[in-house]
Amino acid sequence: MTLRLASAGESHGPALVAIVTGLPAGLLLDRDAINADLRRRQEGYGRSPRQQIETDEIEVLAGLRHGRTLGTPLALVVRNRDHKNWTWGMNPWPPEGEPEGKGTKAVTLPRPGHADLAGVLKYGHDDVRNALERASARHTAVHVAAGAAAKALLGTIGIEVAGSTVEEERLRAEIDEARKERDTVGGVVEVRARGVPPGLGTYATKEDRLDARLAAAVMGIQAVKGVEIGDGFDLAAKRGSAAHDEIRTDRRRDTNHAGGLEAGMSNGEEIVVRAAMKPLPTLMKPLSSVDLATGEAAQALVERSDVAAVEALAVVAEAAVAWELAVSAHEKFGGDSVEDFVAAWRAYVERIQWR
Ligand SMILES: Cc1cc2nc3c(=O)[nH]c(=O)nc-3n(C[C@H](O)[C@H](O)[C@H](O)COP(=O)(O)O)c2cc1C
Repeated sequence: MTLRLASAGESHGPALVAIVTGLPAGLLLDRDAINADLRRRQEGYGRSPRQQIETDEIEVLAGLRHGRTLGTPLALVVRNRDHKNWTWGMNPWPPEGEPEGKGTKAVTLPRPGHADLAGVLKYGHDDVRNALERASARHTAVHVAAGAAAKALLGTIGIEVAGSTVEEERLRAEIDEARKERDTVGGVVEVRARGVPPGLGTYATKEDRLDARLAAAVMGIQAVKGVEIGDGFDLAAKRGSAAHDEIRTDRRRDTNHAGGLEAGMSNGEEIVVRAAMKPLPTLMKPLSSVDLATGEAAQALVERSDVAAVEALAVVAEAAVAWELAVSAHEKFGGDSVEDFVAAWRAYVERIQWR
């Protein structure tokens, strides 16, 4: 069974939900570990006070019994605690009573760099909120929860995935500067996966190439505008003799310019994926826009927002990479139970004599 993930949820709606299918039975999930990842996503330098209002917590509605997966669809929920201020504005049903709380007035001032303009045009909305609520990165919370489950599966075969920011000190200094000037910044994150055996993914079809899947998964995260694997863009300026990782007799490498991926397959070295995040589009000093209600020139929507979310992106990208690695590992090793999955992995690494 292929691992699949579907999610739903608006930024200020009642909750974010994810359905994960295909996880083998018997996988031990650690509630504290999932909540710790949710917390990591919310923390991070440069984030807005919303992160303090809400402490995300995982709820599981199906697919788990006494902490172990049942091999049935796993239903994950993260409630939006801030929804209490939006019960009229974001009511799934026609709200009763007088408008109160947030989200009661239509937003008509699209922000450059956000989903606002193309979203209302595409879907025929007259309130930008109908587009921005889902386009917002808020629902990455349940993707992080699903990523935690993926990390648990990968952990059974000795794979570890970790995301971090690149040049953290410089980033924090830039965030401080930008905050003073009421501006926003982006940055670069890196995800590394250790213990991945050679042969996850394939060159056989382009959609099953692991490099392509990882790139799509990371590019699929809000505000990511560039993804590179290993030395990525720098490889273009190198000679072949300096760009490729020589193979030792034990079939390992002394260098890892390829970032652990060759021909769409893991090659046994550490997988290294980097992502460039653009500066966040919601600005306290807004850019020029148009008021969609009047057609007049106007300033874009100003809403409480982060100065940067690069540290959060590191956590979300870690989850995305973990998810794709879990999909590819489960495709390769299969198994309805975790024991079957681990046994198939063990037989494989023995066959290829991989340590
Ligand atoms: C973890 C995370 C948090 C984000 N927080 C904000 C935010 O507070 N304000 C904002 O304007 N954009 C934020 N963004 C970025 C927007 O969601 C994103 O720029 C927007 O949806 C448009 O999509 P695009 O940048 O991929 O083109 C965040 C992105 C991520 C990954």
